[in-house]
Amino acid sequence: MDAKIQELRAKKAAAKLGGGEERIARQHAKGRMTAHERLELLLDKGSFRELDVFVTHNCNDFGLGEQRILGDGVVTGYGTINGRLVYVYSQDFTVFGGSVSYAHAMKICKVMDMAMRNGAPIIGLNDSGGARIQEGVFSLAGYAEIFYRNVIASGVVPQISLIMGPCAGGAVYSPAITDFVVMVKDTSHMFVTGPDVIKAVTHEDVTFEELGGASVHGAKSGVAHFAAENEEDALFLAQQLIGYMPSNNMEDAPRTPSQDDPLRQDPELDTIIPDTPNKPYDMKTVIKHIVDDRQFLEVHEHWATNVLVGFARLDGQPVGIVANQPAVLAGVLDVDASQKAARFVRFCDAFNIPLIVLEDVPGFMPGVNQEHGGIIRHGAKLLFAFAEATVPKLTVIVRKSYGGAYCVMNPRHIGADVVFAWPSAEIAVMGPDGAVNVIFRREISQAADPVARKAELVEEYRARFANPYVAASAGYIDNVIEPHETRPRLINALEMLRNKQAQLPPKKHGNIPL
Ligand code: HXC
Repeated sequence: MDAKIQELRAKKAAAKLGGGEERIARQHAKGRMTAHERLELLLDKGSFRELDVFVTHNCNDFGLGEQRILGDGVVTGYGTINGRLVYVYSQDFTVFGGSVSYAHAMKICKVMDMAMRNGAPIIGLNDSGGARIQEGVFSLAGYAEIFYRNVIASGVVPQISLIMGPCAGGAVYSPAITDFVVMVKDTSHMFVTGPDVIKAVTHEDVTFEELGGASVHGAKSGVAHFAAENEEDALFLAQQLIGYMPSNNMEDAPRTPSQDDPLRQDPELDTIIPDTPNKPYDMKTVIKHIVDDRQFLEVHEHWATNVLVGFARLDGQPVGIVANQPAVLAGVLDVDASQKAARFVRFCDAFNIPLIVLEDVPGFMPGVNQEHGGIIRHGAKLLFAFAEATVPKLTVIVRKSYGGAYCVMNPRHIGADVVFAWPSAEIAVMGPDGAVNVIFRREISQAADPVARKAELVEEYRARFANPYVAASAGYIDNVIEPHETRPRLINALEMLRNKQAQLPPKKHGNIPL
């Protein structure tokens, strides 16, 4: 028996070394951790239970038959983050470059199946050279099995992808389907076709980093929700994210007790809106003054920055915040902002996280680029996402709410449960300047002093429409509140909505304009 136990220990020790000391040293030299080291940092100490340590590939082509390494390039299993169960896989670049064989893929599929069956999130740590070239179609089959499960698990359990090395070719489509993608600056890359292929096809010269680094995907393409400074930072982000989410779509998000008084009023909010309507201010300050402990985990911080989305808590209850950002492009909604906000709204709705909208939007972005880029299609996504969301939905109109953007940014008419407005709210079909140009064009041009006449008309229009009281008199706004009372008002409304029951009519699924 002793000998058998010794053999088992030797095998497990060998499996833990993956591709061997030399390759581990190379991995470290590139500033990257091993698959096991990452899991140790991600999960609660001592909580990781590994599965399928003894799995190897089943391929004898191109000399692969002589190289069988226990685990086959991916460490899978389960553990806890702050005591809550999560399933994990962590690709081991030291074993065949973390490339995906059929056996490797089926290990991942096993933990995905378990995650769905047992209702817990799945976190994938990706570091792979892609399809195991020697396996041909069997590798592709394995990938497709993973993609299928990513789709089936979507909206059932949260899925988070950390990109901690290469992630190329069709392999990118697994992270792309998951709810959140965290990339690591300088050491991770994502692209469908690499620099060499691009050079051959389009003659463009581009580096790995310029093409698919964390900064590019975090700021330009929107593929990455987070661009972490380093691997530790990425793993910490994943832990934080999990803290805002329920384990599955049948549970509520976990409340986290806070010392921040739910009745706290914040007088600084009363002076935050500038007197001049076109002057910018930073909506992040507004958010931080309202939520628990000023903690706002911003998602897509560097992409489509004219809208802000992210997680916070109100009296310990996780909430998803969608807010226009007047400090960037006056907070206008454009193609990217609409997509960013729509996907976030759908995540929150799928996982029972109430939505808070802070609105200051002058409308949709005008321009040929925007129209030809499909602002009609993309703006419709946001409208659709808000309308179909059945979680508690609260809106605070902070300042501007103009035109189509009023209809899109979660007004009462598309299902908001509670709508507040600050006294600074302006709700109208368009801004005063544009409006008088349209309806009084002739009168202004014929006036003795057109400039003075226009100024008068703008003032009249402002007095009539640029306030919250017309909407409030129609019941479209439930109450006009003073800015400093926003936090207790929202907390009270969330409490009132705690048992909200809302259902869409029976259907297979809607047809959101993708
Ligand atoms: C088998 C692979 C591999 C792969 C790397 N390796 N990629 N083995 N299949 N796809 C092996 C290498 O042979 C090497 O083995 C070890 O992993 C480390 O690779 P290096 O090249 O030495 O590492 P590095 O210099 O860091 O370069 C990493 C890399 C490069 C940029 C990822 O390995 C690379 O370009 N690999 C091929 C990428 C690729 O074209 N994959 C297929 C994409 S198509 P030894 O024994 O020397 O340590 C795809 C389709 C997915 O993935 C389809 C889904 C639908």
